[in-house]
Amino acid sequence: MTATGRSMAGFLPRTNDFKEYKMEKDIKILAIESSCDETAASVVLNGREVLSNVIYSQIDLHTEYGGVVPEIASRKHIEKVAQVVDKALKDASSTWDDIDAIAVTYGPGLVGALLVGVSFAKAMAFAKNKPLIGVNHIEGHICANYIENKDLEPEFICLVVSGGHSHLVAVEDYGKIKILGRTQDDAAGEAFDKVARAIGLGYPGGPKVDKVSKEGNPDAIVFPRAKLSSGEYDFSFSGLKSAVLNYLNQAKMQGGTINVPDVAASFQKAVVDVLVDHSIEAVHNYGLKKFAIAGGVASNSSLREAFEKRCNEEGIEFFYPSPIFCTDNAAMIGVAGYYEYINGVRSGYDLNAVPALKLGERA
Ligand code: KG4
Ligand code: ZN
Repeated sequence: MTATGRSMAGFLPRTNDFKEYKMEKDIKILAIESSCDETAASVVLNGREVLSNVIYSQIDLHTEYGGVVPEIASRKHIEKVAQVVDKALKDASSTWDDIDAIAVTYGPGLVGALLVGVSFAKAMAFAKNKPLIGVNHIEGHICANYIENKDLEPEFICLVVSGGHSHLVAVEDYGKIKILGRTQDDAAGEAFDKVARAIGLGYPGGPKVDKVSKEGNPDAIVFPRAKLSSGEYDFSFSGLKSAVLNYLNQAKMQGGTINVPDVAASFQKAVVDVLVDHSIEAVHNYGLKKFAIAGGVASNSSLREAFEKRCNEEGIEFFYPSPIFCTDNAAMIGVAGYYEYINGVRSGYDLNAVPALKLGERA
């Protein structure tokens, strides 16, 4: 079988009705996530109920280097993956016998980090004779919305903003995603991390900018909002990042002091304004009244408030995951894996890590 061989035998027909997106029996997916600096495992029941969600975060290890060191991440994943999976089974009061399939992130992400999860999942699939399902990490982020929003079903527009990716997509069906826009340079989370470093907040930057911004004036400094001639829904954050760096350099040269909360809040507002405007425009243009956010940056309090307000004003239903399901976790991979399972997607033992896996792509 090829990496994602398909067979539909034994599955109920696909419809747009979530209630029929269910097998005749309960399905438990064991999911593994190791694409960056979190070693995570989870057991998910019928694609919507998280029975366990174990996350070993390596953040403390990488903080002293100011960012994720791929070699350290891979080594730590090797050390932790078996423990994390054991705990996920235990927390879910499950054994391997209860598991119907193993889902694993195979891209995008750091190749060495991904390889640990993929190799472990393949070994367990072979040893325990379970179906294996390779999951796209970004699709996992989108699927995090199904966990707490039990009535959310496609179609909807989703903004996925994380440390490595920024996409605006139309979720047309389970496992069927159309990209409307993407960042042309830095991802939103990357911009948060770089600006945080420049203003001395350290790593990881997003949550720190979020926190310190609460004490700042978001209108203190007017940073640019990128207008792009190509790609109606595309974003660009590198100009904004440069504008912040220029502002800091100029202030330094003039011997002035820098008001960190004001810089953070003004930068954050510039990011939020662009993300909100593009997303709401897409929701209207596509005639869909449902909108969701996903990815690490989706836990940003100012972004959530701004979307809440605009969606309220414009009669759009707004969905978002709890912060723990926004940042990297395996529960979201279990949800995405469930819908792949229902759709008949199966991976072979030749499943490989695909560090640059594109959204919507099945390698
Ligand atoms: O989804 P995620 O955990 O990993 C990737 O797939 O990249 O996202 C991590 C990113 C980091 O850049 C981090 O700074 C950012 O999400 N982030 C935030 C917040 N929490 C995490 N950015 C802004 N505000 C936050 N509260
Ligand atoms: Zn992620």
